[in-house]
Amino acid sequence: MQYSPIGVFDSGYGGLSVLTEIVNTLPEYDYVYLGDNARTPYGTRSFDVVYQFTLESVKKLFSMGCELVILACNTASAKALRSIQQRDLPGIDPCRRVLGVIRPSIEVIGHYTQTNKIGILGTPGTVISNSYPLEIKKLFPDVDVFQQACPMWVPLVENNEHLNPGADYFVKLYIDALLQQNEQIDTVILGCTHYPLLATKIRQYLPEKIQMISQGPIVAESLKDYLYRHPEMDVRCSKNGTRNFYTTDSTEIFDRQASIFFGSEVRSQHLTLP
Ligand code: DGL
Repeated sequence: MQYSPIGVFDSGYGGLSVLTEIVNTLPEYDYVYLGDNARTPYGTRSFDVVYQFTLESVKKLFSMGCELVILACNTASAKALRSIQQRDLPGIDPCRRVLGVIRPSIEVIGHYTQTNKIGILGTPGTVISNSYPLEIKKLFPDVDVFQQACPMWVPLVENNEHLNPGADYFVKLYIDALLQQNEQIDTVILGCTHYPLLATKIRQYLPEKIQMISQGPIVAESLKDYLYRHPEMDVRCSKNGTRNFYTTDSTEIFDRQASIFFGSEVRSQHLTLP
């Protein structure tokens, strides 16, 4: 069978928090990870730029043989996914698929909250897109959504400062700002795939009674379900258990960081986009 890995894309390291869970859940598939580290962060960029960068990455993953690509990035899912699915895919190849991380998270989130008050921590781009409040209202009309943009969190992770004491200031700052919006919030979604890498510090400043939801396990279960419901796609994904990593920036730095985030040794290759 032809090599046809599942593509997993993020602006940088954050998508590794999703890939780790996907690989644990579906180890037999081949995976290609692409981190656009040279152009991260996406979260502070305009719709047009995020769309253009994401489309270039998706096309690159298609050219590597991927039939299915997961945008393991909320910002790209919020700002580019719909246009790629509706406008670009029919012209590129109507049989290939691109999936995001917001929809799977929203489908389950209403079942977590008792107070019907949910908090979203995300990049400025994800927050401005309003994707979470709009989509949650469709599935769970009784749930109120409160959002807080955390523009400093991705740079902390990308610069490997997220475990250092300096990070505490910004972690507390955005959590306090979210919780001030409504005191009944009982569930908080880490609505950026970089944030699980800050989870220990976030948990430290989040009151114990508030649940903290990371997307990785949710996205992994949703992908498993998708492949089960779409056997025509499942047969087109090769299953030799390989993992390949690509970065648009220095492979040396990527390998060092990614090995920590992915939990096993990473040897990446460099590529340029578009
Ligand atoms: N990890 C991405 C997300 O889930 C975006 C990070 C960024 O580039 O700003 O939103």
